[in-house]
Amino acid sequence: MTEPTSSTSTNNAWAADGLTVVIGASGGLGAAWVRELGLRHGAQRVLGLSRQSQPPLDLTDEATIAAAAQCTAQWAQAQGQPLRALLLATGFLYGPQGQPERSFTQLDPGYLAHVFAINTIGPALVLKHFLPLLANQGPVLAALVSAKVGSIGDNALGGWYGYRASKAALNQIVKTASIELARRNRQATCLALHPGTVDTALSQPFAKTGLQVRPADVAAAELLDVLEACGPDKNGAFLDWKGEGVVW
Ligand SMILES: NC(=O)c1ccc[n+]([C@@H]2O[C@H](COP(=O)([O-])OP(=O)(O)OC[C@H]3O[C@@H](n4cnc5c(N)ncnc54)[C@H](OP(=O)(O)O)[C@@H]3O)[C@@H](O)[C@H]2O)c1
Repeated sequence: MTEPTSSTSTNNAWAADGLTVVIGASGGLGAAWVRELGLRHGAQRVLGLSRQSQPPLDLTDEATIAAAAQCTAQWAQAQGQPLRALLLATGFLYGPQGQPERSFTQLDPGYLAHVFAINTIGPALVLKHFLPLLANQGPVLAALVSAKVGSIGDNALGGWYGYRASKAALNQIVKTASIELARRNRQATCLALHPGTVDTALSQPFAKTGLQVRPADVAAAELLDVLEACGPDKNGAFLDWKGEGVVW
């Protein structure tokens, strides 16, 4: 764990009061975010949601997303503080629905539908139900974890058709939402993040030697440092864990 850091942007969503909701709190990165935010701001200012939380949030079931958003609004009201930050750390790469493709001959409609459901459509529905909960005044943040392999400009290796495409589509949704959100609140920052390679269940079968694999707690703290330094000048950005822009 890192020591609490001071804010480098007066526009950052955690500069003053406010609450944070983390979606994907059961995952490697999401759980680490909940822990680190608790250390930095106090556990009462963080709400973690997942398929296992109460209420449960399943990205493939919009009714659970809507119900979780309603509970989040009630939680913020009970805390007497505005919701200032939405962090999304959900994602899918492999599972019973299939494996990332090594060739176009392996493209499978079932895998493609699932990877888009979890990496693109579910997060879009989270934006639909949670962005309206963010405070209309003062700094607010929505940060969605994407992946550098979703970058079209950076794609030199090929492979992983579905995962790449689902993250590229997520990036477009984040960018589009950032424009609309800024019309509601000029101090809004809505961006996509590349976390680097993180030691989680998602990366475990694919983390090759030579890649810089970081523990989830380290990656979570580094990403929060990046987010704390972000203000509206980074609205619509695609940033990596060092705070550098990633090509779309
Ligand atoms: N790890 C890396 O090296 C790496 C690199 C680049 C990008 N990323 C991205 O980083 C993000 C975090 O991934 P991670 O590494 O922390 O992976 P992880 O430990 O496997 O976490 C994935 C999360 O997604 C959730 N999820 C999956 N299907 C869901 C559904 N239907 N409804 C609700 N939640 C669902 C999981 O919930 P359950 O616990 O309920 O399954 C879990 O909370 C993802 O967007 C991933 O694409 C990771």
